[in-house]
This record gives sequence, structure tokens and C-alpha cells, in this order.
Amino acid sequence: MDLTFQAGDLTAQAVPDAEAEALQPLLERCEDFHQLAYGRPALADQARRIPAERPPGLTPGQGHLFALKTAAGDVVGLLEALRDFPAPGEWYLGILLLAPEVRGQGRGEAVVRAYEGHVRAQGGRLLRLAVLEQNEAAHRFWTRMGFQPEKWVGPLEQGLKHNRLLRMTQTLG
Ligand SMILES: CC(C)(COP(=O)(O)OP(=O)(O)OC[C@H]1O[C@@H](n2cnc3c(N)ncnc32)[C@H](O)[C@@H]1OP(=O)(O)O)[C@@H](O)C(=O)NCCC(=O)NCCS
Repeated sequence: MDLTFQAGDLTAQAVPDAEAEALQPLLERCEDFHQLAYGRPALADQARRIPAERPPGLTPGQGHLFALKTAAGDVVGLLEALRDFPAPGEWYLGILLLAPEVRGQGRGEAVVRAYEGHVRAQGGRLLRLAVLEQNEAAHRFWTRMGFQPEKWVGPLEQGLKHNRLLRMTQTLG
């Protein structure tokens, strides 16, 4: 698996699971997203939970975490996903999160397009994700990226909230 890829002016760099804690400051800067999703700020060990909370039974390397860095090396985002989950060729994008100050300038789109290329190059043919019902901006964003609704899931207990999520998919040509 490629350990880095370029996404516009950001570089995606793989973060080993054992070093997930390095992403904690970014999560704390994204309090808006944690309030929206969980009804509270990021937990003190939120970043360490990212690999720990993946579904059971994955093979090593199936779950992957990327830090999104500026040319100066600042971490301004993260992307976490599972390859070949739940079926071979289907990849599941668990988290795409950019720091508030770098949103709304086309970087999210650049990351998604670059990640699609990364997935395709490794045999992925479908990308799936789940958007929170209350995350209207993200729903607009994923629709603009070409994702189609698949199925509503939930309500699921997430933090202090009971969330409904819309699963969306994009076929990679
Ligand atoms: C969702 C997210 C990844 C999108 O990334 P982004 O960089 O903000 O996305 P873009 O800049 O490509 O698009 C966002 C908006 O900025 C606008 N935009 C894009 N390029 C722009 C530019 N150069 N100048 C001004 N506005 C621009 C887009 O039109 C879009 O508007 P919309 O809200 O009407 O859709 C990011 O906002 C984020 O991390 N949000 C918080 C976490 C989250 O919700 N993650 C998704 C969970 S499913």
C-alpha cells in the first residue's frame, strides 16, 4: 500500500496505528464536528480510539489512517478508511476531517479525488461512507463529489447522541 499521496496542496501521510495519538490536537481543534456528531468535545483519548474502534476481525493493514499535512508539515486533517470492507473491492471511508480554518477552499474535494485514485490503483472499485443526518454541509459535499444514497442506518448511540446516518456509495470507474 502506498504510504503517501498528494492531494492538491496537502500531503496524505500514513500514520501507524500505534502513533494515532499524534492526531489528538487536530481532533481537539474540530470541536464543532464532535459537538455535531457526539454532543460533546473530543475525548482525551479520541485519537487512540480511532484504530481501537474498528470492526473486529480485520487483517493487518486493512484499516488505514492518513494525516493530511501542509507543505510546512502542519497536520490540518485526517482520513481513516478500511480496504476490502465489508467485501473485496469495497472500501469504507470512516472519517474525513479537516481543521476549521482550511475548510471551504476546495481541499476536501482535492483529498477525495486523490484518495479515489489511491483506492482505484489498489483494486478498489467502490467507496462507501456514512453521513450523519444532521451534517447538512457534509451531505451537500458528498453529493457534489458524486456519492449516491444507499441506505439509512440507525438510530445508533454515538457519544451523547442517537444518530441516523445515510450510507452513500460511489463507483470508481
Ligand atoms: C466535509 C469536509 C471534509 C469538506 O471539505 P472542504 O475542504 O470544506 O470542502 P470543499 O472546500 O471542497 O467544499 C466545501 C464548500 O466550500 C465551497 N468551496 C469550494 N472551493 C471553494 C473556493 N475555492 N472558494 C470558496 N468556496 C469554496 C464549496 O462550494 C462547498 O460549498 P457547500 O458547503 O455549498 O458544499 C470538511 O468541511 C470537514 O472536514 N468538515 C467537518 C468534518 C465533516 O463533516 N466530515 C465529513 C463527515 S461525513
